[in-house]
Amino acid sequence: MESENTKKLQIAIFASHTGTNMQAIIDACRRGDLNGEVCAVISNNSNSQALEKAKTSGVRAYHLSNKTHTEEDELDEAIYNVLTENGTNIVVLAGYMKKIGPKVLKQYKGRILNIHPSLLPKYGGKGMYGSNVHRAVIDAGEKTTGVTIHLVEEEYDTGKIIRQCEIEVLESDTIDTLSKRVLEKENSFYVETLKLISENVIKLQ
Ligand code: GRF
Repeated sequence: MESENTKKLQIAIFASHTGTNMQAIIDACRRGDLNGEVCAVISNNSNSQALEKAKTSGVRAYHLSNKTHTEEDELDEAIYNVLTENGTNIVVLAGYMKKIGPKVLKQYKGRILNIHPSLLPKYGGKGMYGSNVHRAVIDAGEKTTGVTIHLVEEEYDTGKIIRQCEIEVLESDTIDTLSKRVLEKENSFYVETLKLISENVIKLQ
């Protein structure tokens, strides 16, 4: 039952590669663990596992990139149109390797989330993605790392932090073991956070 305090999320997910976070969100919606529906998946990478997984899951999937639209403003407009045509009320970036265009940023201001595999502001910014993040954490001798979910602004990894969780870095950790453990946590943490948003415990705009 919808009440004043719950609103079904119409989630558009942007993903460039593997799509494990995307799949976790699709599955949580289908199981009824999250009051939402993944209304569209957009990828800039036509060969991504994310697009493949979205199609297999029966979710509307779109390849939109500088290959489909050579002008940046046309691409921004095309992405915006897909979002509105599918009734999107929240945009979830899950391993999306491109910047969001000004129109989408403006129209969905305060309703675009990203997940990052460190405790921002540490280990964020340009070049800090994938194994680079975990290598930097291990090289710095950190005892704790974590996951950050934040609002998206023009620059990478800079928007308001919505939620973070800590993960211990073990003496024995390699880049591989640490990235696996962090990614596993990301999958459940993104779902939990979206649930809190749908229940209005975390308030977006
Ligand atoms: C995650 O580590 C996320 O934090 C980062 O990109 C990765 C995406 O993983 N932004 P997946 O495609 O969801 O498996």
